[in-house]
Amino acid sequence: MAMTAGLQSYVTKCQCGRQLVRYVLRKCYSIEHQTEKPLHIPVMASQVINILQPIDGQRYVDMTFGAGGHTKEILSVAPEAEMIVLDRDPVAHELACNLASQYRKGQVIPLLGRFSDIPLLFSSKNIEPGSVDGIVFDLGASSMQFDQSERGFSLVRDGPLDMRMDGQRLPDQPTAADVVNMLDQEDLYEIIKKYGEEKMAQHISHAIVETRYAFGNITRTKQLADIIAGVFSSNHRKDMMMRHAHVATKTFQALRIFVNNELNELHNGLEMAFRYLRVGGKCAVLSFHSLEDRIVKRHFHGIDIDAHLNMSMRDHYRNSARVFAREEVEKLLEKRWKPMSKKVTSTTFEDRMENPRARSAKLRSAVKIL
Ligand SMILES: C[S@@+](CC[C@H](N)C(=O)[O-])C[C@H]1O[C@@H](n2cnc3c(N)ncnc32)[C@H](O)[C@@H]1O
Repeated sequence: MAMTAGLQSYVTKCQCGRQLVRYVLRKCYSIEHQTEKPLHIPVMASQVINILQPIDGQRYVDMTFGAGGHTKEILSVAPEAEMIVLDRDPVAHELACNLASQYRKGQVIPLLGRFSDIPLLFSSKNIEPGSVDGIVFDLGASSMQFDQSERGFSLVRDGPLDMRMDGQRLPDQPTAADVVNMLDQEDLYEIIKKYGEEKMAQHISHAIVETRYAFGNITRTKQLADIIAGVFSSNHRKDMMMRHAHVATKTFQALRIFVNNELNELHNGLEMAFRYLRVGGKCAVLSFHSLEDRIVKRHFHGIDIDAHLNMSMRDHYRNSARVFAREEVEKLLEKRWKPMSKKVTSTTFEDRMENPRARSAKLRSAVKIL
């Protein structure tokens, strides 16, 4: 609590996000130093290396630098590889700049921004389409983001209801508090149901709106977690590893995905991966949510696995009275990626015990063929 109060006054005094970045970084380093716990344990790092097979002199992109776990693995295998490392989070970007300073000038290129900013960011560094040998995505939020209560991702550590991966650098971006306090019950229900796959979405959205009317705005993570817990008979339920998970976990995930526009960003990111990889270049994607995996699968396998859409596509193209334009048929048959394995790779039991974040990880990979 003392830290939270101290932090609040610190944030109030801050005129710009840069000081907050420095504060969070100092906290990250001191946590790491005191407990010797790494900032973030990279998930399935050896499998990613197996896919990319990094070679000195080649160019790789880490789309989600975080604390740099996958980048460091690539550089440990190919110390002369060129790394372009992107993250939307200013804290992660500072870490990337730090890493870059340990390598020869221009070998590690840190970029601050989102997947959707890549055309501008890459052209500012003269990175041409078709010039990259391998790309890795490790989606979702980092442990650093969860561990820092002031970022507002955590439901166990109380903090302002924020959840913006970009921190304060995009002032117009809504926070989780804006979403929770400004949307109507129907919209909240849609978000919690769709992005959280939460069966109790109706009850939760109702409880949020009721609390808002009775007590005013919801501003803290703990406050929201308590409101959600009030809907359930117990604070915890079992996750897929039969461990206790807080009942608010899925709602928090839903809000995070919405606030950061994560699914649209992923779609954009995969388009960018295709544009910047050379033919024969490889892409590895670690996802942690069924909707993310569905998007990755749709890109790599060239099929839409959404049942409704498949049905309507089938009926649409079955119509014998319709004449198709050549481009339409070519587009339908076009294969841009060749998946490197038919099935998705999941983590082993040992991986999951070592790194709880790995429990829902799914790894897919593909080679650009067109
Ligand atoms: C799971 S962490 C990556 C951890 C990293 N692989 C490691 O081993 O340290 C995901 C990171 O991706 C970043 N991120 C998520 N979506 C992004 C996007 N659309 N554009 C850029 N960065 C993004 C987040 O800010 C976060 O730092």
